[in-house]
Amino acid sequence: MKILVTGGLGFIGSHTVVELQNEGFDVVIIDDCSNADEKVLEGITKITGKQPQFEKLDLREKSKVADFFQRHKDIDGVIHFAASKAVGESVEKPLLYYENNIGTLVYILKELCEKNKASFIFSSSCTVYGQADEMPITEDAPVKPAESPYGNTKQMGEEIIYDTCKVVSSLQAISLRYFNPMGAHPSAEIGELPVGVPQNLVPFITQTGIGLREELSVFGDDYPTQDGTCIRDYIYVVDLAKAHVVALRRLLDGQNDKNYEVFNVGTGKGSSVLEAIQSFERVSGEKLKYKIVGRRKGDVVEAYADTTKANTTLGWKAEYTLDQAMKSAWDWEQKIRK
Ligand code: UD1
Repeated sequence: MKILVTGGLGFIGSHTVVELQNEGFDVVIIDDCSNADEKVLEGITKITGKQPQFEKLDLREKSKVADFFQRHKDIDGVIHFAASKAVGESVEKPLLYYENNIGTLVYILKELCEKNKASFIFSSSCTVYGQADEMPITEDAPVKPAESPYGNTKQMGEEIIYDTCKVVSSLQAISLRYFNPMGAHPSAEIGELPVGVPQNLVPFITQTGIGLREELSVFGDDYPTQDGTCIRDYIYVVDLAKAHVVALRRLLDGQNDKNYEVFNVGTGKGSSVLEAIQSFERVSGEKLKYKIVGRRKGDVVEAYADTTKANTTLGWKAEYTLDQAMKSAWDWEQKIRK
């Protein structure tokens, strides 16, 4: 079966391409390389022994999207990662985010609506829950007003798919709401490649560990949590990649209960910022330089998943611990800085 992976050279996309190829799927990647390197193809090929097809294409160009689907009539499913993901940048450039994240989604869905059967997996985020009222967070928790245009594109994206599935019965779709993806492939052939100063915790930790950053700023230690720092659910990127394959199979095999479904993808375990630092220190044997600074605007106190639905319905469960995932992130950081 042939699967289109948009954004397939990115962090989560590349790991998902590896898992798809390991499971015998043929993969064609679309990426505009705006936030990814073509060299990632070499990493994927090294790990799987198979080079995926690749087209460098900007999905904002509607006619090119239509032309792509004309040339690839045999595509059975689409996993749509291609999107901009920097929360701060989205506040500065809202239209860029709406065009990149919403415009491209609409163009792809329009093409899929023309097919007799189409399976579609959407990259969503736990950001749709905002500060949820109860922990752990189930899929039934209400969607809260978005804090940023980025967050809004994930909410709107889900609504667009939901509305479309209501009237297009040939379209089968799943939104996966990721908690905090981290880590790298155990081979250290692919991993996270943040452009510029990392905004996310784990790449900032490993870059500080390697000496690229002076010290980590911990954003706030006066939250109502056990050690005062924020709690997140850090999910290993390979576990997350596998969730995509399982979700896709559910659609391809017609196992889905409804033609639009939503699943949380996390470990179910919350870890504080200080616990993440301790994990790094354990697996690297290095002391991490950090200081406590003020809270970061827009941060929620805690967010961790109730994974019951994914566990029971998809038969998927996160397998890696925070330490194992942190070790993979550290191995990757050391390799790329060599
Ligand atoms: C952020 C986004 C989320 C998005 C995700 C993508 C916000 C509010 N949320 O999640 O919508 O889906 O990235 O990866 O921006 N931290 C530090 N120091 C740092 C960096 C982070 O203390 O230098 C802390 C943060 O305060 C937070 C935790 O580490 O408590 C995780 O932060 P981060 O990796 O940025 O992820 P989120 O904010 O959870």
